[in-house]
Amino acid sequence: MTAKTVTILGATGSIGTQTLEVLALYPEQFRLGFITTHRNIDRLHSILQQFSPKGIVICDPEACAAFQRTTTYQGTILCGEDALAEVAADGTNDIVVSALVGFAGVRPTLAALEQGINVALANKEVLVSAGELVTTTARRSAASLIPIDSEHSAIAQCLMGERKESIEKIILTASGGPFRNYTLKQLHAVTLEEALRHPNWKMGPKITIDSATLMNKGLEMIEARWLFDLHPAQIEVLIHPQSIVHSLVQFVDGSIKAQLGLPDMRLPILYALSAPQRLPTPFPRTDLAAIHTLTFEPPDENRFPCLRLARQVLETGGTAPTILNAANEVAVQAFINRKIRFTDIPVIIAETLEKITPVGKPSLADIIAADSEARSLAEQIVATLPTKV
Ligand SMILES: NC(=O)c1ccc[n+]([C@@H]2O[C@H](COP(=O)([O-])OP(=O)(O)OC[C@H]3O[C@@H](n4cnc5c(N)ncnc54)[C@H](OP(=O)(O)O)[C@@H]3O)[C@@H](O)[C@H]2O)c1
Repeated sequence: MTAKTVTILGATGSIGTQTLEVLALYPEQFRLGFITTHRNIDRLHSILQQFSPKGIVICDPEACAAFQRTTTYQGTILCGEDALAEVAADGTNDIVVSALVGFAGVRPTLAALEQGINVALANKEVLVSAGELVTTTARRSAASLIPIDSEHSAIAQCLMGERKESIEKIILTASGGPFRNYTLKQLHAVTLEEALRHPNWKMGPKITIDSATLMNKGLEMIEARWLFDLHPAQIEVLIHPQSIVHSLVQFVDGSIKAQLGLPDMRLPILYALSAPQRLPTPFPRTDLAAIHTLTFEPPDENRFPCLRLARQVLETGGTAPTILNAANEVAVQAFINRKIRFTDIPVIIAETLEKITPVGKPSLADIIAADSEARSLAEQIVATLPTKV
């Protein structure tokens, strides 16, 4: 395999950091292209002690100016969000790791795909907000959209060598988060610190809260619909607290394939960068005898209504998932800012969805408009709720 040039959108985040760890392990196979951050220049300085990227994007103008004043870095430095799409579409990229969080990833991911550049996608909100547009763009330019999310990586691996018409359904596994056994009353009193303590995975704050509300699994259902071109009825969710079976595919003959491994995102990241080749790793191996028990149970959509809301927008289609995603981003940020309760999150999303009529077959302009309308409505709803101390 000749060395691939890998550009990382969101290099300072959890996925970005683990992608850099993977690149450091395989210097013969991968070369670093551009890296981007929103504003974390401390982390950027430490990345530059170990890596020599071709260029850097810092989205926040003030952070960018501060970085330029203090750095000795000789490569290209670009400031502002528009530069994300510019570096994503750079002709020297072999693959772009899309690891921003939220809707901000839509335009740069589309920019890479429009140029026929393969995208390793962690940023699930891109497919939730603009699934049809993104997958059509990838098909048109013959670029590959390779999943990094462990569940979707598992499904892609289970589908190797299989025909699409052989799939009966896919089963996405969910750890259930820290509140799997909580009553509604207990959920009402959940604190930010408790919600940020995921039992199995160490991730960025937004996905950690999404995992606690089970919205993460709802977003993943929508992501799977687009990645694997499935009917909503073919997508099931099971709670699997051990996070060892990353997901499963059931075929029309009734047989099931699953992909297993320890909860370590470096594995699906590496697979997304090297597939179909598998590279040897020094990572810990899964000891099934020590794990002993693997359990599965259906999710409870009454205690975790985000999952039901996601299923509803998946069936509605058009900009309904865009609206859900935007309202969720606002609600999660409000919870992180201690403005609302944990159980207000699905209430805000449901109310936003009720008040906006989705558009079918949306263009990028429709998607941007739906995102911004949903955001401002969700913010208004947040403002009407009693402030949580
Ligand atoms: N973490 C995981 O294990 C995991 C697993 C599966 C899927 N995912 C998905 O991967 C994506 C990234 O997750 P994460 O946990 O790595 O998030 P994270 O730790 O919060 O990192 C997000 C990255 O995006 C940058 N960023 C945030 N907002 C931005 C904006 N408005 N404009 C430009 N850059 C921005 C951040 O820069 P700063 O550092 O400057 O803030 C950071 O580099 C999410 O969609 C998540 O659902 C994550």
